[in-house]
Amino acid sequence: MFEGVPFPVICLVVFLHQGIRGEDVRTVTGYLGESVDLRADADPSWNLNEISWSIYENDTSIAISQSNKKNVDRFYLFTGRLELNTTSGDLTIKNLSFIHALKYTVELIGKGPSQRRTRYFDLSVQVRLIKPSIRLRHSILDSGYCVISLGCVSTNNTVSLSWESKPGFNEPFWSGQQGQAGESVLWTAFTPNRVVTFTCIAVGGSQRELREKNVTCQEPEPQGNNTQPGPTVLICERLRIGICFTFLLFIVIGFNVALVIIYKNQGGGNEPDDSTPAQENVQLDASASLTNTNSL
Ligand SMILES: *[C@@H]1O[C@H](CO)[C@@H](O)[C@H](O)[C@H]1NC(C)=O
Ligand SMILES: *[C@@H]1O[C@H](CO)[C@@H](O)[C@H](O)[C@H]1NC(C)=O
Ligand SMILES: *[C@@H]1O[C@H](CO)[C@@H](O)[C@H](O)[C@H]1NC(C)=O
Ligand SMILES: *[C@@H]1O[C@H](CO)[C@@H](O)[C@H](O)[C@H]1NC(C)=O
Ligand SMILES: *[C@@H]1O[C@H](CO)[C@@H](O)[C@H](O)[C@H]1NC(C)=O
Ligand SMILES: *[C@@H]1O[C@H](CO)[C@@H](O)[C@H](O)[C@H]1NC(C)=O
Repeated sequence: MFEGVPFPVICLVVFLHQGIRGEDVRTVTGYLGESVDLRADADPSWNLNEISWSIYENDTSIAISQSNKKNVDRFYLFTGRLELNTTSGDLTIKNLSFIHALKYTVELIGKGPSQRRTRYFDLSVQVRLIKPSIRLRHSILDSGYCVISLGCVSTNNTVSLSWESKPGFNEPFWSGQQGQAGESVLWTAFTPNRVVTFTCIAVGGSQRELREKNVTCQEPEPQGNNTQPGPTVLICERLRIGICFTFLLFIVIGFNVALVIIYKNQGGGNEPDDSTPAQENVQLDASASLTNTNSL
């Protein structure tokens, strides 16, 4: 019968067969206030005659279907919360609460001979981690570089936050540990006129949530070509004042000087500003970002 079948293949078949026969417990995670499906995974070829769901620890029956007559309101803890699929045997528990974190068992009985199967489930209920949020702290065009700072926070301050850039972004970025305010700050500088995506990753327990942010700086259109005049060019042309550009230049220089002063103050830690704690913990993350880029 097994002529021509290599020995390792026979072993594998025997092993899998035993694995299916030996009843295992399925660990399922549900989230507070949400729904969870406990999948009975009935063999689709079976014509189910009886489905019986119960709390495993003490055999309390919670949902039953016999000859297509359903009763899913058998136990007060689950009143109005259960849906039973009589084809698949799957049970849905809606609006989960911590009291539903129990062990469950389902017994499936088909119409055919020896169509009988029991499955076990261990349901844990967790609070869902909320996506972190990202704010743009600074975005300036300085000496031909787009200088960006982003801050990421989570509503749950026990989660840890980290940053990643998308593959293809080869410039370094610096990211800080979470400060007292729980904000993780990122600094970077890159060539303008392109969109760069940063991802903030929140990890709490076994959960992980991401938030992306696209950042960019637009370099003003070069002067002397009227084919695509930028807004500055248009304003200046309308005003027809020669000194308009000079005036704007002074504003830009003044703005940069002001920013440099602000940065220096933050670095000195004199400001009771929210950015201060993050500044203290800023560390070089350039190598990390390069490693990420290479591995992807
Ligand atoms: C079975 O366990 C559930 C959940 O712990 C509990 O609410 C219920 O009272 C128990 N039933 C019996 C008969 O002990
Ligand atoms: C019941 O399960 C079957 C098989 O998985 C599926 O095709 C069907 O859509 C389900 N019915 C409902 C009401 O969810
Ligand atoms: C969900 O269950 C909680 C109690 O666990 C209840 O206060 C709330 O009203 C329920 N929500 C819905 C939409 O049924
Ligand atoms: C915050 O996260 C921790 C770990 O993931 C979790 O145990 C806790 O319930 C969460 N708290 C809130 C309010 O989400
Ligand atoms: C960022 O830009 C990409 C395309 O460049 C787009 O697919 C994505 O949806 C954008 N993400 C956000 C958060 O705006
Ligand atoms: C402006 O653009 C046109 C093509 O759109 C080009 O022929 C011309 O040389 C450009 N002038 C300058 C000063 O760059």
